[in-house]
Amino acid sequence: MSSHGAPIPMTSSKCGPLKGVAHVPGDKSISHRSLILGAMSVGETRITGLLEGQDVLDTGKAMRAFGAGVTDLGGGEWAVQGVGVGGFAEPEGVIDCGNSGTGVRLIMGTMATTPITATFTGDASLNGRPMGRITDPLALFGTQAYGRKGGRLPLTLVGAADPMPVRYTVPMPSAQVKSAVLLAGLNAPGQTVVIEKEATRDHTERMLSGFGADISVEETEEGRVITLNGQPELKPQTIVVPRDPSSAAFPVCAALIVEGSDVLVPNIGLNPTRAGLFTTLREMGANLTYENEREEGGEPVADLRAKFSPDMKGIAVPPERAASMIDEYPILSVVASFAEGRTYMAGVKELRVKESDRIDAMAVGLRANGVDVDETEDSWTVHGMGPGGVKGGATCATHLDHRIAMSFMCLGMATDHPVMIDDGGAIATSFPIFEDLMGGLGADVARR
Ligand code: S3P
Repeated sequence: MSSHGAPIPMTSSKCGPLKGVAHVPGDKSISHRSLILGAMSVGETRITGLLEGQDVLDTGKAMRAFGAGVTDLGGGEWAVQGVGVGGFAEPEGVIDCGNSGTGVRLIMGTMATTPITATFTGDASLNGRPMGRITDPLALFGTQAYGRKGGRLPLTLVGAADPMPVRYTVPMPSAQVKSAVLLAGLNAPGQTVVIEKEATRDHTERMLSGFGADISVEETEEGRVITLNGQPELKPQTIVVPRDPSSAAFPVCAALIVEGSDVLVPNIGLNPTRAGLFTTLREMGANLTYENEREEGGEPVADLRAKFSPDMKGIAVPPERAASMIDEYPILSVVASFAEGRTYMAGVKELRVKESDRIDAMAVGLRANGVDVDETEDSWTVHGMGPGGVKGGATCATHLDHRIAMSFMCLGMATDHPVMIDDGGAIATSFPIFEDLMGGLGADVARR
């Protein structure tokens, strides 16, 4: 089943060289946060380059349901009329976050310390994902949660009327959990402290500081200690959303495996908490270069140039790098299929609770297309077949997971036989222009 409508079966067939410039959409993580923090500030926030994928549109709809004004001004520009910290109104209907774990988890945090009640739901993928990791720390603020077994959605939250500030150590590497606690801490008096043992993407911290919150980060023996002073007045901002490195990964990786390719992917944020894939690819011997390196809005940015790379070797990806490339393991496993030797990916248990169980979804589909894959609960190994060595020919189940769908479409660009997916509907959640963009570079990806 597709997340929004009938399934969209798709086929990707071997193509000639991929060539040209790939302008990928805005960053999904930053887009969600722009709408949410805009809604929490006092006045009008302007956003350009917002990702207009379904996940982010669902967050925009939710912000309206809580009383903020969210207006599409056209051409990727949006205006958000904020209601201020603690200013959320009780929504009249159920908040449907579709496929988006980031959307629902951040919004649950944001409303948790306001005395209103809201019920959240999503599609079959989202309703199967764990929410206890959010409701457990929110309970420390005084928020009550009534969900299905295992804390699954649909779930009702009753916001705390007299929230307590909390000190919380995030038990797994998760930017969503960290962010939910910080957003809840915004409307609690005093200091909320969040500790993460491993650094995860830091967009929430950076943006809270940009919106004028009093937030500090200290590296200690315990880990990253983030301290937020509650109940600030957030000031509206003008935000230019950088392009998404997680979306850039698809044209970059496709170019590395398709013979003769040379693709430029401009303006990609290389925040170290997000750029682990590109480091890994370069260690594997990928012909991937950073051009025009610069700083924009306090973030390192570069144009990525990726060329066909017939000499890539499998490596052991350091587990401490996992958080900085957690969404990129599916497409890395595709590149690894065309490298020589084994690629070992450890410390990645979190992949099992994403939009799908991503280790299982990729392992099953890669095996069906002629690639050997071994897996344990928290690691997996892809046995590379070398350039041009993957047979293809099989249909892969995508489990409502956009990154699984796009990864298998990239696989088919370099296999002997076409690769099919049962449903590409979820691609629109993060990369609505994927088919057109890849087609423009020379890929043969079609709905059939
Ligand atoms: C995200 C955090 C990550 C990532 C997701 C986006 C975010 O999830 O997988 O796509 O924007 O905070 P986890 O927090 O579950 O690691």
